[in-house]
Amino acid sequence: MPRLRLAVLASGRGSNLASLLAASREGRMDADVVLVLSDKPDAPALALAHEAGVETVAVPAAGLAREEHEARLSRAIAAARVDLVALAGYMRILGRAFLDAHRGRLVNIHPSLLPAFPGLDAQKRAHARGVRIAGCTTHFVTEDVDAGPILAQAALAVDPRWSAEELRARILTLEHELYPYSIQLLASNAARLEGGRVLVDQAAALLRGSAP
Ligand code: GRF
Repeated sequence: MPRLRLAVLASGRGSNLASLLAASREGRMDADVVLVLSDKPDAPALALAHEAGVETVAVPAAGLAREEHEARLSRAIAAARVDLVALAGYMRILGRAFLDAHRGRLVNIHPSLLPAFPGLDAQKRAHARGVRIAGCTTHFVTEDVDAGPILAQAALAVDPRWSAEELRARILTLEHELYPYSIQLLASNAARLEGGRVLVDQAAALLRGSAP
């Protein structure tokens, strides 16, 4: 089966990008990161991609209308003959034209068990509510923020003594497993979008951790 050509959009640190690069290199994912794009020219994620020998494109949003900004991203994605676009800490809401251009080929990772805690600071809000089960979700991206069809989820049992920071770190470690796993579901054709849901041919939940 041909390997999936992946573009990653990241605005910041890039730890999820690093996990995708490692999974690809180590043969855990039949996909290659062929392009990394950012709206922040100084994003650590871009430096990381550069070091890994991956093509990088920075498109700062300042002074550009959203349509023009996203059209530039789409042009770079088209030129790299990308099969799937993965958001990994990309901090801008995407507009209709971009979503239409990449519909069904655009995924995101979110640090909560959706539909709980969509939006910013999900881990902090989950901690403040005292949740006993936390986790992360990969999903297709649609107009509704963090509400597209769910691809896979990973959960962990929460020790109520953990600080918000500890919970955030534990979820992030889980994200680093879930994202390559989710992309492998697509690369191996084990998952597909149908009627607004993702159908999977195999168990698509990762369960980790143990209660205190
Ligand atoms: C992750 O927690 C991801 O779920 C969220 O943004 C964060 C990005 O972290 N969407 P990193 O840049 O991948 O380290």
